[in-house]
Amino acid sequence: MTPTAPAPTGPPYQQVPLSTLAPERQVGIKLFLRTGKDRYVLFLNEHSLLTTTKIDRLKQNSVSHLYLNTCDRHGYLNYIKKNLTAILSNPALTENDKASIIYETASDITEELFLHPCTESIDQTRNLVDCMIDTITQSPKTSNLLMMITNQDYYTYTHSINVGIYAIMMTLKTLPSISDAELKTLGLGFFLHDLGKASIPTSIINKQGALDQGEWELMQEHPKLGTELAWDMGIRNPAIIDIILSHHERYSGSGYPKKLSREKISQGGKICAFCDVFDALTTKRSYKKALSTFDALKIIKGETPEHFDPELINPFILLFGKQ
Ligand SMILES: [Fe+2]
Repeated sequence: MTPTAPAPTGPPYQQVPLSTLAPERQVGIKLFLRTGKDRYVLFLNEHSLLTTTKIDRLKQNSVSHLYLNTCDRHGYLNYIKKNLTAILSNPALTENDKASIIYETASDITEELFLHPCTESIDQTRNLVDCMIDTITQSPKTSNLLMMITNQDYYTYTHSINVGIYAIMMTLKTLPSISDAELKTLGLGFFLHDLGKASIPTSIINKQGALDQGEWELMQEHPKLGTELAWDMGIRNPAIIDIILSHHERYSGSGYPKKLSREKISQGGKICAFCDVFDALTTKRSYKKALSTFDALKIIKGETPEHFDPELINPFILLFGKQ
């Protein structure tokens, strides 16, 4: 250990579970050991490798957490993003830590995607969805935790994550024999379903209250704008494009943009529609409260079969039953 630096002062320190740090890699930020109340000593500098020997020595001393300076939080998230697969495959990581890491990384990546949609942000989202699906399929407890930690404040990016999590879980329930590759493709489609909102002015996206006729017409363009943006970023898979284009179609044919009905709407589009409406109802915005799960499911059931496929309403409700 290298406890040579003086006890730092300044902003508070934040815990980093040791299990989130993969061995033989540079974390790229300073990490501290807590030696007493409000006393921290430097353990690893930003240029050093966190070796297996160092990790073992911490474990021998029953140290389960290191600390970072909160101003280095972004650097820590970058480290997690780059090493997500290695970190999530650590058997010592608790289910709670896994769910928090996935949700927090997802928030960072999807916020970046909507602010700066580009090939690199799509690649990061694809990697995130792949890691998330690997974790969900291997650990039912992490899936339940992920369903529980969905953010209740509505932002386009948190909405995309919440819908992504619900829709992946619903796909597993309704298409149990789906291949891993197909699930990962649909999963990326669910995360990207509202990508077109990146092309709509934020004054419309964040408007408090009802949209006027012109704003509403522009908002209805977002599925089409999303497919164009996805195409520009190199996405060619028809299943992904289809989810982006069809998540506002309704079972009776009253949706948009193509007024598709019944079997003309793909399974991915139908699943996304349930999850999209459910998340919109159960999250709060400046002008409306969040509904409870029970009340939201009641509304969605009442709108079936006008808006939603009656064959999917029971599996959807069961998704939110006691686990
Ligand atoms: Fe949408």
